[in-house]
Amino acid sequence: MPMDRFDIVQSLPNGLVLRADETVIAITALRPDIWRVRIGRHGELPEDASWAVREPARHHDCDISAVRDDDALVTLRTSQSVARVSLASGALEFIDAQEREILADAMDSPFETGRQGFVLNKTLGPNVHIFGLGDKPTQLDHRQQSFSQWNTDSYAFHEGQNPLYKDIPFFMGFDAGRAFGMLLDNTWRKFFDFGVSDPAVIRCGALGGDIDYYVLTGPTPKDVVTAYHWLTGPPPLPPKWALGYQQSRYSYETEDEVRTLALHLRENNIPSDVIWLDLHALDRRRSFTIDDNAFPTFRKMIDDLHVMAFKVVLIADLHIARVTDEPYAPYRLGLEQNAFVHTADGTLYVDEAWGGPSVFPDFADARARAYWAHLFQEPYGTLGVDGIWNDMNEPAIFNDLGTFIPEVRHRIDAPGFTPRNASHAEIHNVYGMLNARATREGLLNIAPDRRPFVMMRASYAGGHRYGVTWTGDNVATWQHLRLSTPMLLSLGLSGFSFAGANLGGFVGSSNPDLLTRWLQVGMFNPIADNHADLGTRPQEPWVDGPDHLRIRREAIAERYRLLPYLYTLAEETSRTGMPMMRPMFLEFPSASGGEVLDRQTPSQFMLGAALLIAPPPYGEIPGEYEVTLPPGGWYDFRTGYRVETDRRAKITGNSGTVTELANSPAHQSHLVTITPVADRIPVYARAGAIIPHHDTISFTSETPSGPLRLAIYAADQCDGDVYDDDGESFGYRNGDFLRQHFTARFEANGRFIVTLGQRAGNRRPWWTSIEITIHGLGSFERLAEDRPCQFDPHRRTLTFNVAADIEETTIIGYGLRQKSSP
Ligand code: NOJ
Repeated sequence: MPMDRFDIVQSLPNGLVLRADETVIAITALRPDIWRVRIGRHGELPEDASWAVREPARHHDCDISAVRDDDALVTLRTSQSVARVSLASGALEFIDAQEREILADAMDSPFETGRQGFVLNKTLGPNVHIFGLGDKPTQLDHRQQSFSQWNTDSYAFHEGQNPLYKDIPFFMGFDAGRAFGMLLDNTWRKFFDFGVSDPAVIRCGALGGDIDYYVLTGPTPKDVVTAYHWLTGPPPLPPKWALGYQQSRYSYETEDEVRTLALHLRENNIPSDVIWLDLHALDRRRSFTIDDNAFPTFRKMIDDLHVMAFKVVLIADLHIARVTDEPYAPYRLGLEQNAFVHTADGTLYVDEAWGGPSVFPDFADARARAYWAHLFQEPYGTLGVDGIWNDMNEPAIFNDLGTFIPEVRHRIDAPGFTPRNASHAEIHNVYGMLNARATREGLLNIAPDRRPFVMMRASYAGGHRYGVTWTGDNVATWQHLRLSTPMLLSLGLSGFSFAGANLGGFVGSSNPDLLTRWLQVGMFNPIADNHADLGTRPQEPWVDGPDHLRIRREAIAERYRLLPYLYTLAEETSRTGMPMMRPMFLEFPSASGGEVLDRQTPSQFMLGAALLIAPPPYGEIPGEYEVTLPPGGWYDFRTGYRVETDRRAKITGNSGTVTELANSPAHQSHLVTITPVADRIPVYARAGAIIPHHDTISFTSETPSGPLRLAIYAADQCDGDVYDDDGESFGYRNGDFLRQHFTARFEANGRFIVTLGQRAGNRRPWWTSIEITIHGLGSFERLAEDRPCQFDPHRRTLTFNVAADIEETTIIGYGLRQKSSP
């Protein structure tokens, strides 16, 4: 689009406003590493409001210097990055402090606009890999793929299908150790094309709405993740029980069935925390009812389940059945409060959903959110359920379109927005997230000091502030088990760390081997929920006989033993947004081939910084496969033995783009060949990690009988933390928590020093002693002060105890850590 030259019409403390004809561009720095760009096409800037980005972040100031280089160029500089604006075209270029390009407008015409929509063209460097964008059922690296964004019910989705349930318009670019991010904050139907129509261009755009985007300049992938969470807010800490094993199906149909399930879980010694109630718990599938025939003593059942230490999650879909011939408060109240959406001509919008002809709250409107929030008084307040499941919130409608008809209108009434009417095209992609937001608000109103658990299917960027998610209606196939890993990793990079996939597969029946494998992998997913469709064969851990039961039980028990590690990670996520489940490049950005690690061995991933999980990529083809061990040294988590990378593994080929790193042994990864076994999937502990764990428990709130255990995986320098609190309340915000940092240092002269740091927070530990095991100690002489200990030369472990009432201590020992050549 030919345009007049841009003039600077306003200089801001942190940016500029430029104008040419009817086009107005505002570019502002919010932090040294975050830029915001807004472009108005009708003579003024778009409304400064957002469903995704927090108001304090949008208006955050950052010092910049602005220099007019010559007639054609203005340079804005923060302490970490630079934005250059061409006055001829309005084109923008973001570069780092070393003048390396991060992201730039790709053409003379930096954006194309149609009657309503727009397209942005950005450069795509030849070696840039693309990650994020929410729930894409495809390989982790999105380069050379294109996507559309329109929240869609996707029963039995297939590999490569898009759009899916969520619109998270945030992606990360990564090239040879350096990363950047971009959030296109526009709720309309959108697309992203990462080098498909032009290999050197990222094209993205929307069918309507404003141009409002953020460029995150990194430089590390973790910097980009934390910057994204600074913009959108980190996900709140879920209750601890959300990390427990969860058993679900569509549906446990009667109270008897649910009670029997609970007994079987306990009798079979399956550590477990949560039972889910799907549509059959409801009267004629009407939200906010209970089927009294099938669940005659529902409240008693909940109480009894609580006594057995189970939590119950109940489905609450957003469609409200239009019941006119009998009392149904959700419908009556919604009508009274004018909470439901109408079509453009003012007619109440009625369409088909589970409960028959239904109406739908207008979650964009504060009034409807308050109405919805209030409905939880009965299930959450009176009946005592513990969590709420907002399914079908794309919204999924049983009509030809699968969702609301375009004539539906919304009323926007939300902080930061000027109240106005809006089309469904604008609201569609945020509708599900606003549904979850209203639910969370409802639960908090009822129990202000209890952490809400809200499960949502559809969402938008920032939706992670309101609840957790899952990948939707996957299929019981090996391919879907495989897909679950990149999907959860992509979600984690897009804010939704607290996510799971229906373990075992939802659609169709899982075969015994698949279910076992899936449970093994799923125990390292942030949320571990076994869920299956109506009519599929039973999928509980015991249904395939004692051998499978034993393996499945051990997989679940191992997760519970790792609970201190998992919960410590979850708490980190809630502060920084760093996902629990991490792609390899996030932890090893400068590893040899760092940017391709996840392509070579797509099934492996990190759980936190310390554990590498490496399931077979093709479970259906038994046979050897390779695992990439990034540089730094590894231990087999189960045996505690150091992996001798010089003897058992061969060195990987190097990737073209990072050869300068690959030449140094310190950056070399290794390929290890694995022969799969049925009993477990390989897990490796990173040399240098200190992992807190304890003995098996039956549910997350059970106090373990033994000590807190710390596994130290010897390296020159080791680090780890433990975090704990009451698991349910917000008391941790007022000091009722415990955090302790641990280090261990192994010196060349054989001395080693283990330090248990000072405990932070007011909470007393549940443990009375800490048992420390150092793995990888080649030889051992003694601990200073002749402290008692056991050295096992065969296993190369040293074990000793420290009383928990010692709040801070250092233990010195003498021995040599085992080293393997890199
Ligand atoms: C669709 C959901 O994705 C699924 O998990 C659920 O079981 C059914 N709806 C029935 O509620």
